[in-house]
Amino acid sequence: MNLVLKCAVAALAATGVVACSQTPQQTNIIDENIAVAKQQIGMLADSSEMGGKLRIPSTIRNGKIHFVPIDDWVSGFFAGTLWYMYELTGDEAWATRAQKHTEILDSVKHLKWHHDVGFMIGDSYGNGERLKQIPGYKEVIVETAKSLATRFREVPGVIQSWDADRGWQGKRGWQCPVIIDNMMNLELMFKASEFSGDDTFRRMAISHADRTMQEHFRDDNSCYHVVDYDLTTGEVRGRCTAQGYADESAWARGQAWAVYGYTTCYRFTGDKKYLDHAEKVAAFILNDENMPEDLVPYWDFDAPKIPNEPRDVSSAAIVASAFYEMYTYTKNELYKQQADKMIESLSTPAYRAAVGENKGFLLMHSVGSIPHNSSIDVPLNYADYYFLEALIRKGHVEAGEPLF
Ligand code: GLY
Repeated sequence: MNLVLKCAVAALAATGVVACSQTPQQTNIIDENIAVAKQQIGMLADSSEMGGKLRIPSTIRNGKIHFVPIDDWVSGFFAGTLWYMYELTGDEAWATRAQKHTEILDSVKHLKWHHDVGFMIGDSYGNGERLKQIPGYKEVIVETAKSLATRFREVPGVIQSWDADRGWQGKRGWQCPVIIDNMMNLELMFKASEFSGDDTFRRMAISHADRTMQEHFRDDNSCYHVVDYDLTTGEVRGRCTAQGYADESAWARGQAWAVYGYTTCYRFTGDKKYLDHAEKVAAFILNDENMPEDLVPYWDFDAPKIPNEPRDVSSAAIVASAFYEMYTYTKNELYKQQADKMIESLSTPAYRAAVGENKGFLLMHSVGSIPHNSSIDVPLNYADYYFLEALIRKGHVEAGEPLF
């Protein structure tokens, strides 16, 4: 049932008393975003389905929508966005569209040459399974986990993110590069164990989360982007960045993946150390002197020309979503307040596109990778995905409902 309907039903059940706990202002920001998203994402979907062919929009490049192939790490976000539109509106037309965009990704379940299948299949099939229990979706998720499991390296106890010849490595080369982003693939592993009864995927996820907690974080609880492991000894060979400003800097999206990833690990394990760790990362994010007043971070907390550096809207959207979940476990109002503030900032014309603009993407001003001169200060499909997810979570939190 969509958020708006849920409040209406609650109000009826309370015989005229509005039982939904959203204040008028809070209700407005969700509803207002839904109204804008219907138009924007509808426009983006129309462009992506033009001529009857389904394409995957990722960003705007040279003034045009840039479409990606199914093996790109961002290929699942658009299907996921359509599922979230269904969840937010209850309109079956979105589910029909989402299902079509999900099922073009079927062969990703066999992809073994990088780690991002958790994003790709989790956001598409994962949301489809959660919302519609479509036959066959669980099997796709389990098959994908089997593919990801081929990248698990027993000695260091981690899932290898990139192949060693990725081309982004320094002079020493890599053996087993693991990026903090990989924390986001663990949800798929936990789910696959639930669906299959095979504990292997869960054990790999826990091993990965534990080793990453040990090796990726600095004393101030910020994290490195890349940690490279020795495949023979399991020792760390080096720590560096690929997408951040410097090896020792705090790349904003990396911090966002960390706080979100450890919150997810707590959801699936109930192990308090993961929640505690997520809280430490959250404290770094919120207390860093370079975090702007509106809580939309610069692309790297240590970027040299702050305040004249691009913001990364995607990081704010990811963190906001994670904070709503953290709030449900900790009941610490700070997370809800800060997430609300991020949502409020992202809903202003400074970050959210006017209807009919931005080729249909909802949000502007994200950063893909500055060191690669790729997708700088542009819309990104994952910023929209996590923003809609955060709105859904905000609605549940304010209605006093569980998130999952
Ligand atoms: N996972 C790649 C990125 O966050 O840019």
